[in-house]
Amino acid sequence: MKLVGISGSIIGSKTSKAVHEVLQTAKVKDASMITELIDLKDYKVEFVNGKPLNDYNDDTIKVVTTILSADFLLIGTPIYQASIPGVLKNLFDHLPIDALKSKVTGIVTTGGTEKHFLVTEYQLRPIINYLKGVVPVGNVYVHNHDFSKDNEITNTDIINRIDRLVEEMIYLQNGISNRVEK
Ligand SMILES: Cc1cc2nc3c(=O)[nH]c(=O)nc-3n(C[C@H](O)[C@H](O)[C@H](O)COP(=O)(O)O)c2cc1C
Repeated sequence: MKLVGISGSIIGSKTSKAVHEVLQTAKVKDASMITELIDLKDYKVEFVNGKPLNDYNDDTIKVVTTILSADFLLIGTPIYQASIPGVLKNLFDHLPIDALKSKVTGIVTTGGTEKHFLVTEYQLRPIINYLKGVVPVGNVYVHNHDFSKDNEITNTDIINRIDRLVEEMIYLQNGISNRVEK
């Protein structure tokens, strides 16, 4: 199975680190897992302007096709102004409406205040559901305080939450994939 992680930030590095942790945990649980991290900082995804996908630049095509090729996904997002970053919303706007059909799509959120831990529940989950993705019950909110100066996640509660999220994602995706194959 191929798990693609998206880091929806082009400013900092905490979200990318959190997504990386999830992908690493998935590989520990299933050594045959193929993982790929798409850090939006590394790509120049164009603004959606109504053109067919093939008329956008190579980075845009690469990011969209990587999402479409995934068996399941992990979306990492920071909270910006009590919402998701514009670059991440723009990426969702590029996707066809059944882009996430039969794909478990987990969420990891980073933020500077605990007060915004439900933002992705109310703002990101509906977008994923609209694209027909299956969002696990578990999600992970990583506060800036949970990172060390070396950008490592040090809070064991967060590490345990990542572990449980990955277990749930693999369990759900196996169930969906087996059902689809029958
Ligand atoms: C433009 C901007 C707006 C932000 N707004 C919020 C916010 O509304 N709530 C919050 O909890 N954190 C907010 N933050 C803090 C980031 O969510 C937090 O630092 C996150 O870890 C950044 O992830 P990154 O390093 O991947 O960019 C904001 C940061 C920036 C740069």
